[in-house]
Parts: sequence; C-alpha cells; structure tokens
Amino acid sequence: MTILGIETSCDETGAAVVSKTDGGIELLSQSLATSLNKHAQTGGIIPEVAAREQVKFIIPTIENTLKEAFGYTFSQKSPPPVDAIAVTYGPGLIGSLLVGVETAKTLSMHWSIPLIPVNHMYGHIYANFFHNSEIVFPALALVVSGGHTDLVLLTSHHKLTVLGGTRDDAAGEAFDKIGRLLGLPYPAGPTISHLAEKGDEKAFILPRPMIGSKDFSFSFSGLKTAVFNLLKKNNWNFNDKTFSENNQQLLFDLCASVEYTIVSVLTRKTIAAAKEMKVKSVLLSGGVAANKNLRKTLHHEINNLAHSPYLSIPSPDLCTDNGAMIAAAGAYSKQRLHWTELSADPSLYY
Ligand code: KG4
Ligand code: ZN
Repeated sequence: MTILGIETSCDETGAAVVSKTDGGIELLSQSLATSLNKHAQTGGIIPEVAAREQVKFIIPTIENTLKEAFGYTFSQKSPPPVDAIAVTYGPGLIGSLLVGVETAKTLSMHWSIPLIPVNHMYGHIYANFFHNSEIVFPALALVVSGGHTDLVLLTSHHKLTVLGGTRDDAAGEAFDKIGRLLGLPYPAGPTISHLAEKGDEKAFILPRPMIGSKDFSFSFSGLKTAVFNLLKKNNWNFNDKTFSENNQQLLFDLCASVEYTIVSVLTRKTIAAAKEMKVKSVLLSGGVAANKNLRKTLHHEINNLAHSPYLSIPSPDLCTDNGAMIAAAGAYSKQRLHWTELSADPSLYY
C-alpha cells in the first residue's frame, strides 16, 4: 500500500510518500516548505500569513514529493500510483488546515483516490513507526509540541487513551514565550537549547508545578512568570537585543535552567506513567522531542527502569511537523473517506 501524506496544520507545508508492507513502513520521499523566516520577524505565527504562504507552497511541495518517489508531475494525465491520500484535518489553525484539506479533496476527486483523515497528534506519534519493528503495545507516547504536552497510552494501532495533559501552556509554548521575553526569534525552543550549552542549569531554581502530583497532568505557565521576575530582579535590559556582555552569562544560565526544568518535569512524569502502566514501549514525539537534552535524559531514565521498555525517538526532522508522519499515521488507519465527507476541524482532540 502506498500513501501520499499532506500536512498543513500550522506554519509548515509538508508532503511525503510512504509504502507499507508486512515488514512495516518505508519513507519513499518527502518535501517540506516553511514560512519560519516570516514568523521569526514577528516573534510568533500570524495565522493569515502562514496560510497565505501555504497557498503558494502546497502544489510545488506535493509535486516535489511525487516527482522524487515516482518521477510524477502534475502534467501527466493519469493519477500517480498511490492508494490513498492522508491529510491532517485537525487540530490546528483553520486557514492552514483548509489549504491542505481542500487540496487533498481536489486531488482525491480528480484522481478518484480515497482520503484518510489524520489527526495531527496521531501523526506526531506515528513518526515513531518508520523501520521500527520493536514497538510493542501497550505503548506510552509523550507528545510534546507547540500546542500539546500529553501522555497517551496506545493499546493497539489508533486505539489511544489520554492519561493526562497540560493544564495551561504546552512545553513548546513555554520555550517560545520565554524566548520572546528574552528577545529570541520564534520558535525559541532550538535557540534556548543551543544557548543552554554555555550556561549552568542549576544557576536558578525555577518552579516545577505538579512534578510530584499523582496524576499525569502538567503545568508550565508559571515558568514564564518566574523567568520574568528573575529578569527584573537582575536588571535585565529588555531593549538590549544584542545581548551585551552583562546580559550574556545571565542569558546562558537562564536558558540552561529553563531547559533543565522543562526536561526534568517531562521525564519524571513519563517515567511515572511508564511504571504505572507497565508499558512495553515508550514513544517520544512532537517538536520538543527534537530537544537533545530531553532525548538524552529520557534515554538514561528509561534504561534505569526495572522492566526496561523499548524507547523510540524519531530523527529530529521527523519530530517537528512534516508530511511523512501524516502518511505514516494514514498507512496504519483503516478509515477511507470520499472527498465530499471530509472537513477541517481546528479544535479536534484525540
Ligand atoms: O510539533 P511542532 O513542530 O509544531 C506543533 O505541532 O506545535 O512543535 C513546535 C514546537 C515549538 O514550540 C518549538 O519551540 C519546539 O517545538 N521545538 C523545540 C526544539 N525544536 C522545536 N523545543 C526545544 N528544543 C528543541 N530542539
Ligand atoms: Zn505538530
């Protein structure tokens, strides 16, 4: 079975082709276009700007991936050799979702190929299934992105139970909001992580709400306020975007302390859930899963667990939004829709 995947839930425009056999799934091609340069200037995503860029990118991105997989171009009369088109239909920004969904519907009608509706969050989880025959159920997924911080139990393919999630800001959102306070470009997660390498993670003790609670909920909104108060106390110059010498070591130490705090909360809760649910596999997913420190710490802690579940961490490019993860989730879904049956759902949950 060969699936074309399309992703446009936020600021990325992704397309990919995967092939599924009894041995698992294989990525045949993928293409990604981003409007990040526009959002870096504005300190965050302006939804209409993202959608307008996606309108420009969507056709070339899909054609690129079909060309790479099959040498196919849109000038050909016959359809490409794909069995279904998987597309993200939620959650996300409505303007962005509509670009992918309406394009997928048009192609589905034109080529007479069915659609597979894919929940973006399932997509993140399925980034783990490329060449990964060691994933055994029950599996626990930590889904950490710009909008979500969730612990999800998978008992079989597409059978999920949410164990807990964030009560306020998501982990990625915390990185991005703190980055904004510090004057760093959007998305701030990768930059904070990079600056953290030169800092002392124990320089500041930051709040870790709910770290010891018995449930699997998270809360990250207090972190931003704590950082703001610390900056004020240390006479941080909010207008100095060049980070003069005085500000520099404070910046490194703060970044290291923020990263340490977020990683320790995520790791502690994931380990507690893995133990309680006695899972056989742990799957890390979502944009924040690209964080080196989180990958290393979780790996270390999972290795120390007595029942040693298998840990899967996708390559960093498959952690942030992309078309391959949507094609992968589609490949394991049994749902097939006629193009008239699909609509975007920006507030879709699991
Ligand atoms: O999954 P994703 O690409 O988009 C959403 O579905 O939200 O996640 C984007 C989030 C952003 O908040 C970004 O700052 C964060 O992932 N992120 C990181 C890293 N790379 C991306 N956070 C920490 N460390 C990173 N290396
Ligand atoms: Zn995402």
